Amino acid sequence: MAGQISQRFIDDLLARTDIVDVISERVQLKKSGRNHSGLCPFHQENSPSFTVSQDKQFYHCFGCSAHGNALRFLMEFDNLRFPEAVEQLASRAGMQVEREGGEDPGARQRQQKREEGVNLLELASRFFRERLALGGGRQAREYLDRRGLSQEIIRDFGIGYAEDEWESLKRHLLAQGISEAVQVEYGLLVHREETGRTYDRFRDRVMFPIRDWKGRTIAFGGRVLGDAKPKYLNSPETPVFHKGRELYGLFEARQANRQLSRLLVVEGYMDVVALAQFGIRNACATLGTALTTDHLQRLFRLVDEVVFCFDGDNAGRQAARRSLQTALPSMIDGRQVRFLFLPEGEDPDTLVRQEGQEAFEKRITCASPLSEFLFEQAAEGRDLKQVEGRERFVTAVLDALKLLPEGVLKSLLVKELSVRSGIDQSHFAGWLEKHAAPEPRQAMTPDAGYEALMMTSDGDIDATSDPGVTVDNGNNRARRRGHPASRSGTATLSLSIPARILHLLLHEPGLVEGLPESVEWCPVEVPDGRLCREVVQLLRAGRYRSPQVLLAHFHGSADGERLDQLARRELEIPRDVRASELENWVRYLERESARLTPVEEYHQLLEKSRQPGALSSADKQRLRELIGKLAGGP
Ligand code: CTP
Ligand code: MN
Repeated sequence: MAGQISQRFIDDLLARTDIVDVISERVQLKKSGRNHSGLCPFHQENSPSFTVSQDKQFYHCFGCSAHGNALRFLMEFDNLRFPEAVEQLASRAGMQVEREGGEDPGARQRQQKREEGVNLLELASRFFRERLALGGGRQAREYLDRRGLSQEIIRDFGIGYAEDEWESLKRHLLAQGISEAVQVEYGLLVHREETGRTYDRFRDRVMFPIRDWKGRTIAFGGRVLGDAKPKYLNSPETPVFHKGRELYGLFEARQANRQLSRLLVVEGYMDVVALAQFGIRNACATLGTALTTDHLQRLFRLVDEVVFCFDGDNAGRQAARRSLQTALPSMIDGRQVRFLFLPEGEDPDTLVRQEGQEAFEKRITCASPLSEFLFEQAAEGRDLKQVEGRERFVTAVLDALKLLPEGVLKSLLVKELSVRSGIDQSHFAGWLEKHAAPEPRQAMTPDAGYEALMMTSDGDIDATSDPGVTVDNGNNRARRRGHPASRSGTATLSLSIPARILHLLLHEPGLVEGLPESVEWCPVEVPDGRLCREVVQLLRAGRYRSPQVLLAHFHGSADGERLDQLARRELEIPRDVRASELENWVRYLERESARLTPVEEYHQLLEKSRQPGALSSADKQRLRELIGKLAGGP
């Protein structure tokens, strides 16, 4: 592994950067008092709830709770990974990125290669487009025509044609000085081991360039003109293309509408393109893979509402169930997921052709909300008139609810389950609690103040002011999402102890100092246990001292999403008891893992007390408890 970017460098970089400059280059900001404000680039809104504080070097959106420093902003807005965002800020500030363990010659090389690759794919894309226009592309043009695609759509999606030849693209690229090895690496050429020969991967196919969000071509999908197999051929995984992360058509959807509020996820290239042809320009497609968390993250970065479209057959329902499972953990308040089932034997392409834009849009409007699909699917094949059937139904719903983050949606679903099953809600609360993790003793009295991460409530950015008073044309979807009011009141939640520890550390990383040297106390088999260990180790290594940078480290992964979720939760533990609370939790876990009997524990503590100063205050308190218990025991 290359050296990590040093924390000192990051601190230095942030000190030399003004977040207001960085954001103004991308978002129109107006100065208002000591802050700047503007329309939030991370969700759709008509009145500004996006605030930038020059003093604190932070941004915060009251509408969607997006928040962070300049690095976080670049990562979110420009869709960069952490090191890329650092590079970008550094070059802006005229600084050279410093890494631990000296220079990293690899990074520069990798960056250069990446550019080379993207450039090469762009050349290939242009080549395919030209081929489509030329004499040899006649059959392909006729094919696209038969499928009803206009010139405009062909242009917007950059559709092209790969000729029926073995070395056409290869020769073209070689003439531009691009080696065979590089062409193989980016999936344009196939290398035959036995003969050592290379030849064009895509031959006699209509070519769909797959573009990243900036419009750079990163891969291709090619469809045969006739019935040959395979029908679609995709680029393999390459340094710039990861199937499980990309969605076809996102760039084009954004191009067509900068203010997207909803995305439709379909299965195929042709579905996306045909829908666009009929004026439905907000569709995208997974690339022959099941929906992943990475996909969802990408989608929810752009919009609050995602509609998944499935075939009406068994395979479609199966895929829908899987997507539901994948989506549940991402359903923070304000996000919406719906399921659209098409009549059997149809796909969006055939259907929109048949019934037109309006009818298809009606289907989208009527798609089942997540809750409905969830209940329906849990009830499937079960006789709810019988006790056993109802029991299975309840268990199936609870299993899904376990995956949901805490929030209004979850509360509503619990309530709904109670109505549908006739069982009092309180039973479910207990069940959910029990299946999450063992509970430590009750948390401290909640303090009233709302604390957004890194935002103190000392008035500068006043997180408690109500953004709801601004008129925004009924677009309260955005307002609901993550609004402080909707977050409070959901606090009694079934977090595992490692999750609580993570939550605390995310708000106050400095507390890591009080933890034991080794992370053995943290069980890995408990939810969030592994992640907790990892975070503690990172913090201990002294690499990340601000929650923002810590979050940035995990950005773009499932872990990152989880940490984000936790970071967004209000921390209700008063500052002065956090350290002791943390200690209590750790002790609790240590006890659990050792499974000490009270007597053993008593002896262990007694042993420990022989070294002067070894007993912490929590230890002492525990010792007193144990003495009381053992003395007065049965
Ligand atoms: N797919 C693939 N490889 C295949 C078949 C399908 O990667 N051999 C992926 C493609 O992304 C394709 C999607 O699965 O777009 C849906 O496949 P299918 O329903 O078979 O194709 P359609 O989109 O209906 O294509 P067409 O209408 O052109 O037949
Ligand atoms: Mn089709």
